Amino acid sequence: MKEAATQVQADLDRLLPLLDASLTVPFRRGDAVRLGEAVRYSLEAGGKRVRPVLCILACEAVGGTTIEALPGALALEYIHTYSLIHDDLPAMDDDDLRRGRPTNHKVFGEGHAILAGDALLTEAFGVLASADLDPVKRAEALALLAEGAGWRGMAGGQALDLEGETLAAYDLGHLRLIHRLKTGALLRASVEIGAVLGGAAPGERSALRAYGEAIGLAFQIQDDILDATATDAQLGKRAGKDVGRGKITYPSLLGLDGARKALDEATENALCQLASLPNRNSLAAWARYLALRAR
Ligand code: IPE
Ligand code: IPE
Ligand code: MG
Ligand code: MG
Ligand code: MG
Repeated sequence: MKEAATQVQADLDRLLPLLDASLTVPFRRGDAVRLGEAVRYSLEAGGKRVRPVLCILACEAVGGTTIEALPGALALEYIHTYSLIHDDLPAMDDDDLRRGRPTNHKVFGEGHAILAGDALLTEAFGVLASADLDPVKRAEALALLAEGAGWRGMAGGQALDLEGETLAAYDLGHLRLIHRLKTGALLRASVEIGAVLGGAAPGERSALRAYGEAIGLAFQIQDDILDATATDAQLGKRAGKDVGRGKITYPSLLGLDGARKALDEATENALCQLASLPNRNSLAAWARYLALRAR
């Protein structure tokens, strides 16, 4: 694990300054000043930046450059931040703490929080559409973003997650479907968009798509485990909420040991997908690290 943590830290030291310098740029000037503040509030609160970093690393893994992946990376963090703002609304998970701060709607009100999400979602497509990219790569990246974020991806998964709160019981297959959609689809898109922007060969692209799918499932299993085992301070969000809201999760269905076993399986599956890639070190380290993350 030490090696994986060292590699992850090196990637973060290299990429976080670039992301932090770019993320809020489109939201600094505009007429709707308070909406801009609401968007920047959530973007600047931190967050682990897993999706943009994976996008860039996937691009680099197939021989592309950091800069080629940057518009995709920004778009992914915009979609993800929007999904968190909306996920925290009273109509959804009704949370008051996110990224170590009061949630967006607690500070700016529900109307502005909904609109901050709308603005981020829209800007995600804007930043990719207006980037200086090869037109075919740009069109493919936009289509993948729509697939990952939309009703066949994250938005659909969030709907199934909400509907699940009132179902008496469901099986592991249905829970896996929810996790694949609500969280896995955007992580898969992060990796595949990076692959496309880096000019991946078809075989590399499909291996990276499968890797993204597997770490996406692993990521949500670990999120469920952390909800059941960590503290608010550790997570920067409320722990222990899933049971209270009647969410079915991996620990509630399989127990903590069963959930950890499923997490290990998904992580091993992700690692297997990388076998044919020449530059796989960083992506392998991230898969190992994400399974053991403490926040
Ligand atoms: C939290 O995502 C929501 C899930 C999809 C599980 P992250 O754990 O990546 O949240 P941040 O970006 O670090 O705040
Ligand atoms: C959220 O899942 C997935 C999203 C698409 C935002 P959760 O509801 O478990 O995420 P947290 O635990 O609030 O971060
Ligand atoms: Mg939720
Ligand atoms: Mg939530
Ligand atoms: Mg959660």
